[in-house]
Amino acid sequence: MRIEGKEYRTIWFENNIVKIIDQTKLPHKFTIKELKTVNDTINAIKKMEVRGAPLIGATAAYGIVLATLENNDFSFLMKSAEKLINSRPTAINLKWAVDRMMNKLSGVNSEKIFDIAAKEAIDICEEDIKFCENIGLNGLKIIEEIYKKKKDTINILTHCNAGWLATINWGTATSPIYHAHKKGIPIHVWADETRPRNQGANLTSYELNEEGIKNTIIADNTGGILMQRGEVDMCIVGTDRTLSNGDVCNKIGTYLKALAAYDNKIPFYVALPSSTIDWNIKDHSEIPIEERSSKELSHIEGIDENGNIKKIQVYPHKSVSMNLAFDVTPAKYVTALITEKGVCDASSSGLKKLFNK
Ligand code: MRU
Repeated sequence: MRIEGKEYRTIWFENNIVKIIDQTKLPHKFTIKELKTVNDTINAIKKMEVRGAPLIGATAAYGIVLATLENNDFSFLMKSAEKLINSRPTAINLKWAVDRMMNKLSGVNSEKIFDIAAKEAIDICEEDIKFCENIGLNGLKIIEEIYKKKKDTINILTHCNAGWLATINWGTATSPIYHAHKKGIPIHVWADETRPRNQGANLTSYELNEEGIKNTIIADNTGGILMQRGEVDMCIVGTDRTLSNGDVCNKIGTYLKALAAYDNKIPFYVALPSSTIDWNIKDHSEIPIEERSSKELSHIEGIDENGNIKKIQVYPHKSVSMNLAFDVTPAKYVTALITEKGVCDASSSGLKKLFNK
């Protein structure tokens, strides 16, 4: 997708270096960062220079590629794989991508290991782009149905950033929006600010602006009243881990939006590639929910009048704060899942029909 009119992907590999858009600097500074070692990729994931479930999976895949350049002894790769998987705990795409890389590399002789790793990481990225594009085409049909009845601007509420910046291209929740916009359907997006890291304001609104899609940033608690006033036609969010029973783990606050949507009879869709499905965990209480530094709550970052990025404290210095990064929306509040294979019920039978598992 575009930034200042130029096409970008969120991650690419050039001259044995991984290049990323440093998302901690957005929206104020557009910076391309180079990752040269597996530890660089681990740090980029931990610091959230790259974030969003599919993108951290792709970064971890490239982490394995860089590890093969540092030391192609399989025990080094195994240790690197474990560190990558543990760099952020909630999004299943991370483990999915690392396991896929390690399965591909197991038994490969050392002369070929880099080439095979590089090809697999590129394949993971290309596949994600294709899957996100298909999610868009499948989601577009839903938007078209709503537009046929309403014949006026469709107001879509989204939470966090499940945009192209969270994937390689297109995004998951935003892909139907981009496809609808390209078809000329008038769209307006309500972008939840998404405290504490403000991915909705800093990333979703930013990327929609760059694509010329109308959007309004709202405080996280505003969605409810907008729904009561009839100002939300549908919600679309992403997910970091969806269970085989249809329960959806996503950015903290998603659950409350789903409850408000349910109470107001507003369709609540979750868009995801199959790499986000956890077929093993049966109960959502087993999902590891990341707890991040409370400083992400007590301090806030912005740009001052001289164009410098500054961090300031906003909470009383004696106050304790708690920063859980994700929550779980039970399947009963999800209208449907939008996947690369089609749209299905958020249930084991719905997912089984599409994925034959
Ligand atoms: O903490 P983040 O910014 O990595 O969280 C991202 C989200 O919660 C997204 O909604 C999710 O990863 C889906 S991305 C297509």
